[in-house]
Parts: sequence; structure tokens; C-alpha cells
Amino acid sequence: MSTEPETRGAGAQGVGEAAATHSEAPARADVDWEGAWQEGRTRWDAGASSPTLLALDSDGTIAGLLSSVQPEAPYRVLVPGAGSGYDVFTLARAGRDITGVDLAPSAEQKFSALRSEHLTSGSTNYLTRDFFSLPDDPAHRGRYHLIWDYTFFCALPPRLRDAWAATLERLLRPSGVLLTLMYPLVEGTEVDRDQGPPFPLSRAIYERHLLASNRSFQLERLAAVDRSHPGREGREGLAVWRRKA
Ligand SMILES: C[S@@+](CC[C@H](N)C(=O)[O-])C[C@H]1O[C@@H](n2cnc3c(N)ncnc32)[C@H](O)[C@@H]1O
Repeated sequence: MSTEPETRGAGAQGVGEAAATHSEAPARADVDWEGAWQEGRTRWDAGASSPTLLALDSDGTIAGLLSSVQPEAPYRVLVPGAGSGYDVFTLARAGRDITGVDLAPSAEQKFSALRSEHLTSGSTNYLTRDFFSLPDDPAHRGRYHLIWDYTFFCALPPRLRDAWAATLERLLRPSGVLLTLMYPLVEGTEVDRDQGPPFPLSRAIYERHLLASNRSFQLERLAAVDRSHPGREGREGLAVWRRKA
């Protein structure tokens, strides 16, 4: 299984060229995500929610994290780079308002087509927007109790990593939780590599951006992962980060 979108120019050279000419532009300048969705080049799409997220939800971990931010519902949860939205459906429960965001309109179409089959309870929204633009909107700034990141950070070129951390911080409420299923963890990846997506990651890279001196995250918990989509085994790890109050 791969998260590689196989987009036109999505190889290392194409990404590098785009990065050189769009230093402030969002990820859409690097990879033609909408084109990948339209043409079905979506090998990252496992057709189901992450086994780890399913376990975290059914064993009460997600509920516990939410109540650590605020004792009672309603809770607001964000899934950036939501794709087909399987994780949005998994997180949906009564008392939770789950928002998926993805800049590709065709991803929202897939989500809408799957909704009646997968959504069993709770309330979901899907925004066809650039994740990086959300905090500029007062309706989203400081709104979320929990943000779930899986296969979004690795989809972003390294030059957007600081902006990813800053955007997450602006979207979370004080004491809000960022839950990352870190992937693909590649042994020895301590420096940014410009080949992707997916761009190889390490825990040190997450820490570099989330625990930078100008950020207000703290690392609360690290956990090994014992269930993954086929082909991703041994390259995932869980981390709980909390925005300081
Ligand atoms: C590797 S895919 C992962 C999709 C989904 N999380 C999954 O696991 O199936 C990355 C997704 O992020 C979306 N994306 C990339 N850059 C984005 C941005 N700046 N804002 C919102 N979505 C973005 C792409 O359209 C794509 O659907």
C-alpha cells in the first residue's frame, strides 16, 4: 500500500520544481491532488478507516482525550486531508461534530457517495478548502477539541511543515489535542527529504516542528502501533500532542 498519488510531476523532480517557484503557495502548487482523484490515482486510499483509529475509538481513548479537553460534549473534531472520509465516519458519534477538509472537490464527491453506507451516527461536515486557509476564518480559529492527522503531514512537501504546525496550533482550542498516526516512519530520517509524496518522516521531524520554541505544543504520549493497513506495518507510531492552555 502506498500513499503516493502518482500525480503528473509528483516525482521528486516535479515537486522540487514547483516548490522553487511557489515558496508561499499551498500544497496544491506541488501536487495535482484533484487530478489524482479524478483519474483514480489514489493508491493511498485503503478503502477503510485506519485500524489504529478504529481501536482508539472503540476502546474509549478518543472519548477520554476529548473529555480531557472539556468535561462535556459537544466536541468538535477536524480531519485534515480527509480524502474519502473513512476516518471522519469512524470519529462520528452523538455529541461530536466532525469536520473533514480536503482541497480536492472530487474527494468530497467520494465522501458524499460513501456517506449513507458508512455514517452511523453523529454529525459530519466536509469542507472543500485549503487546510492552511482555515485559521483565517473566525468560524474555525481555535474551534477544535481534537485534530486527527493520518497521511496528511506526509503528503505535504517539507517546506510546508512549519506552516502545518502553526495552522494546527491556531485551529485547536487551548488544551486541545493533536493526535498523529505518524507515517511513514523511516529509520534514520532525521533530515527533510524532498522526495514524495509520501515524504518520509521520523519522530524527530514531528518534534522539530511541533515542539519548536515558537510553538505551544507538548508531547503527552507516544505509543507503538500493533495494527496497520497491509503494507504499512512497522512504519507507524502514535503520538498525542497537546496545545498548552
Ligand atoms: C495522501 S492523501 C490521504 C487521504 C486520507 N487521509 C486517507 O488516508 O485516505 C492526502 C490528501 O490531502 C489532500 N490535501 C493535500 N494538500 C491539502 C491542503 N493544503 N488542504 C487540504 N487538503 C489537502 C489531498 O487532496 C489528499 O486527498
